[in-house]
Amino acid sequence: MKNLSAQRIKELLDSDLDVYVYDEVTSTNDVAKGISQGAVFALRQTAGRGRSMGRKFYSGEGGLYFSLALGIKDGLLNINAAPFSPGRLTISAGIAVTKVLIGLRYNALVKWVNDVYVDGKKVCGILAEGAGDKAVLGIGVNLASQIPDELSEKAASLNFTADFCEVAAAIINTLIREISSPDIEFLNTHCLTLGKRVKTLSGEGIAVGVDGTGALLVDINGNICRVFSGEAEILL
Ligand code: BTN
Repeated sequence: MKNLSAQRIKELLDSDLDVYVYDEVTSTNDVAKGISQGAVFALRQTAGRGRSMGRKFYSGEGGLYFSLALGIKDGLLNINAAPFSPGRLTISAGIAVTKVLIGLRYNALVKWVNDVYVDGKKVCGILAEGAGDKAVLGIGVNLASQIPDELSEKAASLNFTADFCEVAAAIINTLIREISSPDIEFLNTHCLTLGKRVKTLSGEGIAVGVDGTGALLVDINGNICRVFSGEAEILL
């Protein structure tokens, strides 16, 4: 289960990234902010952060918690020369995790913009942050964590028992390809949000698609609005 090995992950990566594995950190995003480029993993986080201000991300033993530090020069990512934008990173990460989980036979879907759900419950959260001349992209997957009772209505564990290193490397390899060319067609066919009534910063309406920039298209009283950021809360 907790078989994370920096050397093994590095061997499985398609790109030349340094890999660090810690038993415990506050937040892998914070550690990643201190390196120029690489992937930082931890078996547990004492202060795992969610997207909204002050929201915590449950980070007990058994989950896969890691952050990529990606250098940026002249608006391009050093790792693959793709244009950098926080939205592109976030969308690519959701697509990558969903594709890898589907490959492992889970019914994974992206909940726009950056959660991954399986069978109606959240199994992965993604947090992209800027850090000067680099981007930090944190991913937490409840691969085999014991979800506390108070979260169990909304979040689930995948009860995954095989090699964490393979999952980690598959997510990073897929992610780096997605950043170059995000698979928006896949997103439009694997998105939990589409077809649902949602509450967004632009108002309430029906989510009808995701455009080439990753913006959510919401039909609000017959007008199609492009929603670039914030939550799209699914209304019942
Ligand atoms: C969310 O669901 O709101 C985003 C959660 C992001 C969690 C990951 S776990 C690895 C990295 N370190 C953190 O502190 N947060 C991200």
